[in-house]
Amino acid sequence: MNSPKKPLNAQRPSSEIEGKAPNHIAIIMDGNGRWANAKGLPRIAGHKEGVEALRRTVDACKTLEINHLTVFSFSTENWRRPKAEVDALMGLLKLFVKKDLKRLHQEGVRIRILGAQTGLPNGMHALIEECHELTKNNTTFNVNIAFNYGGRAEIVEATQNIARSVKSGQLDPESVDETLLHSFMWSSELPDVDLLIRTSGELRISNFLLWGIAYSELMFLDVLWPDFGRDDLERAVEGFKSRNRRFGGL
Ligand code: FPP
Repeated sequence: MNSPKKPLNAQRPSSEIEGKAPNHIAIIMDGNGRWANAKGLPRIAGHKEGVEALRRTVDACKTLEINHLTVFSFSTENWRRPKAEVDALMGLLKLFVKKDLKRLHQEGVRIRILGAQTGLPNGMHALIEECHELTKNNTTFNVNIAFNYGGRAEIVEATQNIARSVKSGQLDPESVDETLLHSFMWSSELPDVDLLIRTSGELRISNFLLWGIAYSELMFLDVLWPDFGRDDLERAVEGFKSRNRRFGGL
C-alpha cells in the first residue's frame, strides 16, 4: 500500500446537522464470550451468534438512512487468544463471505475489509480481494469489516509509507497534512465516524478507528453483542439525533 488513495468523503459528515441520522456507524461488537458463558456454551458459539447479530444490523442500517457500517471483527491484539478461537474467528469471516457475499452484492452493498495484510492465513488475501473486486461499484450501502485491524498499527503503516515516498522523492514533506495522512490509511475510503457504539457495557475504545472517531459521538450499551437487535440500533440512532455536535465550535 505505497500510493495514496483519495479519501472518498473525509470532510465533515452530512450528519453534522442536528436531527439527521448518522452517516457512518462503527461498532465494537463486544460480549460474545460472556453471552456464550452465560448459556454454558463454548465461546465460539457466542461468535457464531455474533455473526447473526451482524446480519440483523446490516439489514437494519439499510433502512435507517445510514451509509456506512464499520465493525471490529478481529483486532491485531486478538492473536493473543487461544489458537482454536483465532481459527474460529478466521473461519467465521470465510463463512460470512461464502454465505453472504452474493446476496449483499445483489443488494448493491459494497464490502471493504480493512486491516494488516501480514499474518493472515492462506486463502484470506484472495477472499478479501474477491469481496473488494466484486462489490467495488456498489453504492447502496457500505459494510466495512475491520479484520486484523489496530488503530495504532494503521497509523504506523501509513507513516512508514509516507516516509518511503518522501525518501524516494515522490512526496514533499510540506505536503503532509491530515488529508494526505488519511489517504495512506487502511480506512482512507471511510468518512469520519459519526456514532461509535460498543456493546457489553465495557467503556473502552480498544484501539478501534483512532483517526476516524476523532469527533464521534460515543455510546456504550449494556446489551451483549449476540443479543443486539434492530430496536437497540434504532434507540442508538434516535439518541444520536438528539445530540448537539459542535466539532470544537459553539
Ligand atoms: C468481542 O467479544 C468480539 C470479538 C473479538 C469478535 C467479534 C466477531 C464477531 C461478532 C463475529 C465475526 C464476524 C465476521 C464477519 C468475521 P469477546 O469475545 O471479547 O467477548 P467477551 O468480552 O464477552 O469475552
